[in-house]
This record gives sequence, structure tokens and C-alpha cells, in this order.
Amino acid sequence: MTTPQHPHTHPALAAADPELAALVGAEERLQAETLRLIPSENYVSAAVLEASGTVLQNKYSEGYPGRRYYEGQQNIDQVETLAVERAKAVFGVDHANVQPYSGSPANLAVYLAFAEPGDTVMGMALPMGGHLTHGWGVSATGRWFRGVQYGVRQDTGLIDFDEVRELALKERPKVIFCGGTALPRTIDFAAFGEIAREAGAVLVADVAHIAGLIAGGAHPSPVPHVDVISTTTHKTLRGPRGAMLMSREEHAKALDKAVFPGLQGGPHNQTTAAIAVALREASLPSFRDYAHAVVANAKALAEALLARGFDLVSGGTDNHLVLMDLTPKQVPGKIAAKALDRAGIVVNYNTVPYDPRKPFDPSGIRIGTPSLTSRGLTVEHMDQVADWIDRGVAAAGTGDEQALATVRAEVADLLTAFPAPGLPV
Ligand SMILES: Cc1ncc(COP(=O)(O)O)c(C=O)c1O
Repeated sequence: MTTPQHPHTHPALAAADPELAALVGAEERLQAETLRLIPSENYVSAAVLEASGTVLQNKYSEGYPGRRYYEGQQNIDQVETLAVERAKAVFGVDHANVQPYSGSPANLAVYLAFAEPGDTVMGMALPMGGHLTHGWGVSATGRWFRGVQYGVRQDTGLIDFDEVRELALKERPKVIFCGGTALPRTIDFAAFGEIAREAGAVLVADVAHIAGLIAGGAHPSPVPHVDVISTTTHKTLRGPRGAMLMSREEHAKALDKAVFPGLQGGPHNQTTAAIAVALREASLPSFRDYAHAVVANAKALAEALLARGFDLVSGGTDNHLVLMDLTPKQVPGKIAAKALDRAGIVVNYNTVPYDPRKPFDPSGIRIGTPSLTSRGLTVEHMDQVADWIDRGVAAAGTGDEQALATVRAEVADLLTAFPAPGLPV
């Protein structure tokens, strides 16, 4: 173990388990010193971190507030009710379930509520930017249901709604998912809503990536166009690792029953509490500023990358993420991602639509601005970030480790002026 720990931050942990405390300390240092560009990640506030580490962790509470299978729920019921009421207010929905353990179980609960095994379901294909749980073959959702998949057009990188409509009317899926993990453009929930109504399908907006942008008014809301909203709470929403399902009142019972007792046992109350805290933060005017700054930073970063000759899927971004096709640079995504990691810039390699390469060795990298915006970086810094990425990708191609080390030092130097929320200074 070469990286020093921070025993002052976690004294009990350091005393009881120095090995584990050292790893936590090393991760704190890594998160402080690197430029984290993975668009599904963020820095939660110290308050969210504290809430998720409370004694609420000690309590079992199967059921829902006022309807539990265990006694002693005087406080837990209030915690969960706070989270539910805040979710309803922030997203403008009738009903919210804050118990799903994460995004994947939340989506599984949606299938359980509205489909039977073997039924046809529809979502965006994984290599096009959809999520595994939208009916992709290797996922349980693609094995237990008959997944039919739509994509984006090769010439524009945008969803082809004629294709979506044609497929929906031909296949008549029970459930249609819109949203995804690598979509740089605004999701047209109204267009999906029209198609779903015509096809008689339940429409689910999986807004995991953009929940914070919706909460902050920087992306249109899926309300009232969709039946169900599924979201993780740990991406742009800047909460703990968890998820929520939201809907109009008519679907409330079906969703609640699917989450518990259909799929899960006791909710993770410490996570519920941290979700409540994150939702309170998301209701403040400063979060609107944050959400708009995330998008402004992503647009500025996209412009600066285009100016350096990078090829961006769909030509840019409307939201928090940018999908870069590195084919013209002749550097595969994985090689670039690993080199950038050595340069202190953390991204993930990613397929691009119609990628001729394999998912484990694809053509692209996916980057985003939620984390750097949480640290306070602004549009003025995005040219510098693009320059680092440019130099990192070039060094990946030539194997210039010295150039990567130089970028790493410059990154760490800038970031000392922008301490990350929740991390020891
Ligand atoms: C759109 C979307 N849905 C669902 C999930 C799954 O969330 P989790 O990783 O919490 O299971 C993700 C995670 O990346 C996602 O991007």
C-alpha cells in the first residue's frame, strides 16, 4: 500500500480495519486529484454522504410507510415519507417509490408490473446508446422477455421516429423504454408518447442519466407524456447509489407491488435518507444553476473538441454527455481510455452507433461534465479540458508516457483550486 490513508476522516474505520481505511483514503485521493469525466458519476455533498452512513442502516422495514411488516418504524416512516414527498415535488408526479436498490432492479420492477415472461418489450439497442435493462439479449430483461430494439440513424446519430413507430406498430410491445446511457441529445418524450399510445404500450422514460437536468430545468420533463419514470439517483441528480420509480396515480399500486413484495425485501433506509437529502438539494435554486452549468460545460467542451478535429456522435450535445468516435484519430477507445486514465482523466470506452469494433474494444469514449461542474469548473475551463483530452489521445497513439505524465500533473494542479464536494480537503 503506497498511498497514505486519511485516519482523521474515518477514525473508527482506521482503528478497526487499517487495510480497508487505506483503500478508502486512496480512493478519496484519486477522486480529488483526477478529472472525472464519466457522465454517470458525480460527487455527492457531505450531507448526502453523512445521511448514507447513519444508523438508519440498522433497521429492517419491509413494506411502505404506515404498512410495515416490522415494528419500530416511528422514524423510518418519516424518512421515507420525506423522500417520497420531495420526489413528487421535484419531478411533479403523483406517485414516487424510492425503494429500488438501483437502476437495474427498478427497471426489472417495471417489467414485473406490466409484462409477463415471454411478452414483447421494446427499447433502444445497447450499442446505439440504450441500457442493458431495456431488453438487450445478455440481460435478464432480454432473456425473459422478447426484446425488440430500435436505434439511431447512421447519418445523423439521432433517433428515427418513423422506425420506432413502424417497429412499435408491427411488434405491439407491452412496454416501451425511452432514454439510455450514451445519448447526447434531448429525448423527445412527446414523440415517444404518441407512438406508445398508438401501439397500446406502457411507456417508460428511463431518465437515469438526465434526472438532475430535468430536476434543474435543463432538459424537458417526461411528465405528462409517459406512464412511468425510472431513474437512478446517483448520476446528475447527485444523490446516493439508488433509484426511484415515479408515475401517475393509476400505476402507483402496480409499481409498489412490483418493488415489494415482487422483487425486493427490506429497503435500504440509509439510502432512502440520502435520497431525501439529495432531493432537498435538487429543489434549491442553486441546483438549477448547477444543471444549466452542466449542459453549458458539455456544449463548450464539445465545441472545443470539434475545433480539434474530433468526431462526435450526432455532431455535439444537448445534455451532459459527449460520445466521441475516435476512428478518424486511429486510436481505439480502450487504448485512449487507459492512456487518459494514466493522464489523470477518467473516462470510459464505449461503442458508437454502427461500431465495427466489439463492445470490449470499441471505437469510442464517453465523457460528461456532471462531476467537474460539481467542483466548480466553468465554460472557461473547457478549452483546457479539451486540450488535455487531445494531448492524451495523441499520446495514446504514439505511446508517449511522458506526455501523459505532464497532463496528469497539469490536471492535478488545476484541480487543487477546485476541491470536490464531500471529500476531505
Ligand atoms: C439509463 C440507465 N438505466 C439504468 C441504469 C442502471 O443503473 P444501475 O447501474 O444503478 O443498476 C443505468 C446505469 O448506468 C442507466 O444509465
